[in-house]
Amino acid sequence: MQYDYGLTRSPGRILFGAGQINALPHLARDYGRKALLCTDERLVESGIVAGIKTDLRRVGVEVRVFDGTEPELPVSCVYACADAHRDFAPNVIIGLGGGSCLDLAKLVSLVLSGHDDLAALYGEFKVERPTLPVIAIPTTSGTGSEVTPVAVLGDKGRDLKVGISDPALIPDIAICDPQLTTTCPPRLTAVSGIDAMAHAIEAYTAIRQDTGPRAACERVFVGKNALSDHHAIGAIRLIYAHLADAVDNGEDDTARAALMLGSTLAGLAFGSAGTSAAHAIQYPIGALTHTAHGLGIGILLPHVMHYNVVAAEDSFAEIARAIGIVSSDTSNAEAAQTLVQAVQDLVIRIGLPRDLSAIGVPADKVPWIAERSLDATRLANNNPRPLTAKGVATILQAALGGAGDSTGKEVTHA
Ligand SMILES: NC(=O)c1ccc[n+]([C@@H]2O[C@H](COP(=O)([O-])OP(=O)(O)OC[C@H]3O[C@@H](n4cnc5c(N)ncnc54)[C@H](O)[C@@H]3O)[C@@H](O)[C@H]2O)c1
Repeated sequence: MQYDYGLTRSPGRILFGAGQINALPHLARDYGRKALLCTDERLVESGIVAGIKTDLRRVGVEVRVFDGTEPELPVSCVYACADAHRDFAPNVIIGLGGGSCLDLAKLVSLVLSGHDDLAALYGEFKVERPTLPVIAIPTTSGTGSEVTPVAVLGDKGRDLKVGISDPALIPDIAICDPQLTTTCPPRLTAVSGIDAMAHAIEAYTAIRQDTGPRAACERVFVGKNALSDHHAIGAIRLIYAHLADAVDNGEDDTARAALMLGSTLAGLAFGSAGTSAAHAIQYPIGALTHTAHGLGIGILLPHVMHYNVVAAEDSFAEIARAIGIVSSDTSNAEAAQTLVQAVQDLVIRIGLPRDLSAIGVPADKVPWIAERSLDATRLANNNPRPLTAKGVATILQAALGGAGDSTGKEVTHA
């Protein structure tokens, strides 16, 4: 552990706990009398939206609902929501749902505050003016979007999803009520939970970057640091201990609470440290297979860790000790290998496939995926072990069930 630099950016208020959804009307009322609620049809059907509308109206807040959030969040969906509610001129935007709904709320806040061309904001630190306040209420324990400075969207003109990263995208308030996740079916719980685990592990093993006094002003993601480490380790402990229980029994309140706390902490961790190879490689895989973000991440994570073990041995060993799977006198080399195996076992235990072919990744697409993974320069450069096209191909061959060894020892790295 190193304690020389730390950065956390977070919402002004994070409320956590069962029943905290009931704080929403009072919090929203402080922003004015008009709220726009961004959600999806499933959450409307579940009845939760009706309850929220009633509670908001009771405190004098008029609420309009946009329930057209689409998976993979196409940019057209953001403009459709913003255009439909521009005249309403909301004082606050509420995002309720999985990462797609939260990202929609964050992006609609940008458009309604005068950022008409989202494409001009792709990348980092490009938001120009103050944005409308956002209250983010996650209903999955996964993305951490309720606390992060990033929103991800699909743009038809581009092969891969794109991101807008700026501290202005951090919601003003996050309400993390684990009771909202009890309806998540096992596969959604597994896929979103392993996404959160990847956020925390990738934040903890990110490279250390130059962290002079201007770092936090010039870069959204500043690499591994003392504060992101603190959040990441907390997240990994919670998720490792409780993910399988939540998958097995969706009504296990303790597991649900631990997972939500873990995914929010993981969001705080990667919101400053950034993510790396598993995320870089999932983007082209998601574009190719149209499978859930967390599913590709879950399959890739152990293979990426296997590849990274030579460069991240000490960090992996610290994680292994923190989650109690090795004793204090186990060598770092052995502890790191034990962690990689434990993460692989967890992925299988929660019912995800071991192999990318199970989600339709064809072996002949490896060169294309490898090339496109490296387009996500910021993520690739944040990986503890240098990531080259050959390195990604090595990871992919192992993740495709090939005889390959994802340590990639035969690969020469820059
Ligand atoms: N902004 C960020 O920091 C960030 C980080 C990681 C991922 N993402 C993005 O988030 C998206 C993935 O989010 P996600 O994994 O939360 O899934 P999602 O938002 O795409 O939702 C997946 C499905 O789960 C359903 N669902 C949500 N909550 C439910 C509940 N409580 N019960 C039953 N069903 C429920 C939704 O209706 C939807 O059909 C991707 O677009 C990804 O790129 C954003």
